[in-house]
Amino acid sequence: MKLRIPIIAALIVVLLTACGGSGGGGGGLAAPEPPPPVADVPNLYALAPGNMPVGVAVPAGGASNSVLTSMPRQTIVDDHFSQITAENIMKPSFLHPGANSYFFDDADALIDYAVSQGKTVHGHVLIWHQQLPAWMQNFSGNATEWTNMMENHVDTIVRHFAVRNPGVVVSWDVVNEAFTDSDANMDGMTELRDTIWLQGIGPDYIADAFRTAKAADFDADLYYNDYNLAGIPEKLAAVLDMVDQFANDPNPVPIDGIGFQMHVSLDWPPIGDIASALAAAAATGLKVRISELDVTVNTDSAGNPGPLTQLTAAVAAQQQQRYHDIVSAYLDAVPAAQRGGIAVWGIADVDSWRRNNNPDEWPLLFDDQFQPKPALQGFADGLTGN
Ligand code: G3I
Repeated sequence: MKLRIPIIAALIVVLLTACGGSGGGGGGLAAPEPPPPVADVPNLYALAPGNMPVGVAVPAGGASNSVLTSMPRQTIVDDHFSQITAENIMKPSFLHPGANSYFFDDADALIDYAVSQGKTVHGHVLIWHQQLPAWMQNFSGNATEWTNMMENHVDTIVRHFAVRNPGVVVSWDVVNEAFTDSDANMDGMTELRDTIWLQGIGPDYIADAFRTAKAADFDADLYYNDYNLAGIPEKLAAVLDMVDQFANDPNPVPIDGIGFQMHVSLDWPPIGDIASALAAAAATGLKVRISELDVTVNTDSAGNPGPLTQLTAAVAAQQQQRYHDIVSAYLDAVPAAQRGGIAVWGIADVDSWRRNNNPDEWPLLFDDQFQPKPALQGFADGLTGN
């Protein structure tokens, strides 16, 4: 996915790094100061108003950094989060590897861990255009066959977790990233993405996926999830239009919430845009989640690495403020009864998907040694209104 971050941001980072990181010694050649140690931060989830879920995406299954085999990661998850999301292992390529075969062992082990720690689980993801098994990508059939295939996929997966552990997978990303980023036909809304689902079934695949998921687990909250909803107004407009159509359908489509992924940078989207986008989503009456929060500090708008080779005190302070502002904006914009919660997309910087693109990136709340960053304090202060 392409994230829009103004080039100017990179320049600001350079300047702030030079100013804030030189220790006041002048000359600009001294090593920049690293972030200061962070004083004890109380458990995030205990700070959250009204038991709002505070979640985290976790590696599991065969991943070398699986939370199930890493004590430092488990300590962080247990201390700070009330909900987990599988970062990868509950996606179609993992759960549904063959047309007639499902693989639940790894996911069940993760669910068992969640249960043992008293955490709920947010299910991610049923219908997406990435991380699909090859058989699904190559599926051929008419619209009825495609619909049957999709419905079986959604029904089998949702039902598995609802039956094995009732009440643990409390919500699902039913459809993820169904809209493009650009308003090609200039009608104020971005278009449906050209996916196998759109090609095989047509635009009704989204409603059908929600109906199927609801029939499989009436109690789970069902979300539409996407990125850049706060940064591209036409994309949010497309999602809100879809929600409106769902509500006005003679047989209303059972959607419970809108998920904002919130993969952002220090300055894009501006906080005012984030606040107004969250408020617009809340005005639908649906639940609203921040589902995949992370904050890059050293990646430009084209996705290229910035100049930093280590996180500096000055940039860490900016990131702390950014986490604070986003959490605070969420609590201001979304009424308590509609808060699906806030989840960060990864436990520690060393785990972040942002490192795939830029090894010199530090987007999360804990550093490579699993120590709290100033960002954690920012998140906590956002929750408590400090
Ligand atoms: O499973 C293979 C493994 O067999 C192989 O050895 C290894 C070698 O690189 O790759 C493994 O696959 C990787 C997979 O994660 C599982 O670890 C892929 O290369 C890698 O591209 C994939 O990245 C994930 C990405 O989704 C895929 O698009 C990230 O970890 C994950 O954080 C990211 O999460 C997405 C959300 O689901 C949706 N929203 C955006 C978010 C960030 O892209």
